[in-house]
Amino acid sequence: MNVDDSTLILGIETSCDETASALVMGGYDVVSSVVSTQVDLHAEFGGVVPEVASRAHLETLSPIVARTIVEAGVDESRIDAVACTVGPGLVGALLIGVSAAKALALSWDVPFIGVNHMEAHLYAGFLEDRSLEFPLLVLLVSGGHTMLVEMRGHGDYRLVGQTIDDAAGEAFDKVARFLDLGYPGGPAIDAAARAGDPTAIDFPRAMLDRKGDGRHDFSFSGLKTAVVNHVRAHPDVSSDDVAASFQAAVVDVLVTKARRAAAEVGATGIVLGGGVAANSLLRAELVRACEADGLASFVPSRAMCTDNAAMIAAAGWQRLRTDGPTALSVGASPNLPLVV
Ligand code: KG4
Ligand code: ZN
Repeated sequence: MNVDDSTLILGIETSCDETASALVMGGYDVVSSVVSTQVDLHAEFGGVVPEVASRAHLETLSPIVARTIVEAGVDESRIDAVACTVGPGLVGALLIGVSAAKALALSWDVPFIGVNHMEAHLYAGFLEDRSLEFPLLVLLVSGGHTMLVEMRGHGDYRLVGQTIDDAAGEAFDKVARFLDLGYPGGPAIDAAARAGDPTAIDFPRAMLDRKGDGRHDFSFSGLKTAVVNHVRAHPDVSSDDVAASFQAAVVDVLVTKARRAAAEVGATGIVLGGGVAANSLLRAELVRACEADGLASFVPSRAMCTDNAAMIAAAGWQRLRTDGPTALSVGASPNLPLVV
């Protein structure tokens, strides 16, 4: 099939706690994008409950897809392919989207495209800026992943570094829960940090001085423990100062390592992706670092950082061009890696 600027792809995303669908034309032009968050359903549990997530996706997905098509003002016969996250994510949640996407593709007689959720986070960076020149260094930071990836071309990745324990978003969520700042943790810490002093507490910057193999890897579980120990030793400490100092430590490590990795692979720019890319300090510091190093920076708008389906349709368009349709026998894959 001819995949070009007029190819209209329906994207579907149900890998975690957002039910989303979107229509994207030609890989870049977002025609409509609808996201229904389940945050209120999971808030009382302080984290995502897989069974609750699956049920909510099941109830919400059909109306969300219908709304996406109505908002776009197109007839469904105009849709050229259906792209859907096949992994990584919660298996029950993924299955809802994958089954629906395959059913739509079959009934409309158009290709199905299985999309890797992390690759989609990466493509969110290009949705608003097409001026990419390879190789690029990608910093992917979400609730489940923290990775540095060398992108040598579309679909051509090399894993440069990753977390050896907690993901950056997981650290934000755990520290926010410990500080009673609310759920989800990332935005709560981001907000509290604005009122705090980032130099109040000198939290550890783990693995920053590591040399040799693993020099681009991350570790965040020690930082979380350092926060807990500090607050227990200083019960009257300001939560805003702890949030600001914790956030400064995470961002310092992420930006310093991304910069070093970019220099090492000779990248022309750094792409930021994943839910933690919505963090105010990380966005500002990454752009500043890229300017200082003469690198391009690709920082998606906040709405494109957290889970959405426009990024799924965009990544699907690229995959359809390079690999063609995905076989309907390909199912949900909870641990799907970005780089094999
Ligand atoms: O990509 P995402 O929406 O879902 C996954 O694929 O995991 O990322 C969710 C993560 C959560 O850990 C959330 O706390 C974090 O992104 N996050 C933030 C911010 N907004 C969302 N972390 C730091 N600052 C933020 N403003
Ligand atoms: Zn995500």
